[in-house]
Amino acid sequence: MKIFLTGATGLIGGTIAAKLLAAGHSVRGLVRDSERGALLAKKGIEPVVGTLDHLDTLSSEARAADATLNTANADNPFAADAIVNALKGSGKTLIHTSGSTIVGDHSAGEYPSATYHEDLRRPIPLPEKCSRIATDTLVCASATEGVRSMVLCPTLVYGTGLGVRTVGPQVMNFVKLAQERGQPCHIGAGKNIWSHIHVEDCADAYLLALEKAQPGAYYFLTNGEASWVEMAQAIGRLLGLGEKTGTIRNVDAVRRWGAPFAHAMGGNSRLSSAKAKAELGWKPHRKSILHDIEFGSFRQALAAG
Ligand SMILES: NC(=O)c1ccc[n+]([C@@H]2O[C@H](COP(=O)([O-])OP(=O)(O)OC[C@H]3O[C@@H](n4cnc5c(N)ncnc54)[C@H](OP(=O)(O)O)[C@@H]3O)[C@@H](O)[C@H]2O)c1
Repeated sequence: MKIFLTGATGLIGGTIAAKLLAAGHSVRGLVRDSERGALLAKKGIEPVVGTLDHLDTLSSEARAADATLNTANADNPFAADAIVNALKGSGKTLIHTSGSTIVGDHSAGEYPSATYHEDLRRPIPLPEKCSRIATDTLVCASATEGVRSMVLCPTLVYGTGLGVRTVGPQVMNFVKLAQERGQPCHIGAGKNIWSHIHVEDCADAYLLALEKAQPGAYYFLTNGEASWVEMAQAIGRLLGLGEKTGTIRNVDAVRRWGAPFAHAMGGNSRLSSAKAKAELGWKPHRKSILHDIEFGSFRQALAAG
């Protein structure tokens, strides 16, 4: 199949691209400049230089491909809308990427949520997530207008990526904080719980969805969960700082990382992937995030400097 992929240099997109190529598909990847385009070409991805603001490029590439995978930015409604409009009536596949903070809360580390989410509906969405939810809804709804559209919603992605970007920023921000303070820290009491997904298990789900998902499908992707106290303890073991954790106040986390990141990482995001497993036959099986923090991608990234 001819695939057009946005986010081709990214953690998720790069890993999907590697698996698509290994499965015999051809991939044209959106890339912001020709230098990064050369990095894609080395990996066998044909670079298409442009950004998510080049709506004409998105439209023409989507029309020319058999399937479009949008992994660049879950919060760009204009790009998603342009791709949807380009594909209306074509019957072609569009897999759009969302992110599980759509079901998050503002616990600021103070409490674990008891709620597991099974789909994108929730009674009162966080105001900052309304645009993302509306974009997801737009994509799924285009299934009624001749697009084989679907949304995949990964949770916190960890593990070593197979593309240009090999490690995600979320846990790494807490690794850097621990290095600075000489102690692993979480936001507030760190009682908040996040579901998570290994990047290769995540990419496997995209390839299965490409083949099997019904138009309009929405899947959460997770293979486990951990509290931020547990993740901070794993960071302590990684850095040889021990398991005694400290705290960064929510207000300081907001100053340091900005409100979107701090509120997301201080909140809860607990999801179920029962639907993806049942409908796609998806079997995530990689090691847990706690194992990865201590022995996997973060150790490799620190060793590489
Ligand atoms: N990582 C997670 O834990 C996670 C979980 C759930 C959902 N998500 C969502 O999934 C998406 C991808 O995540 P990721 O971890 O793969 O992110 P990432 O590693 O930062 O990759 C983002 C990719 O999108 C490209 N990109 C960003 N803005 C662009 C623009 N305006 N025009 C063209 N290309 C653009 C980046 O290009 P450059 O290389 O030039 O920067 C990169 O290839 C994001 O929307 C994220 O919110 C991520």
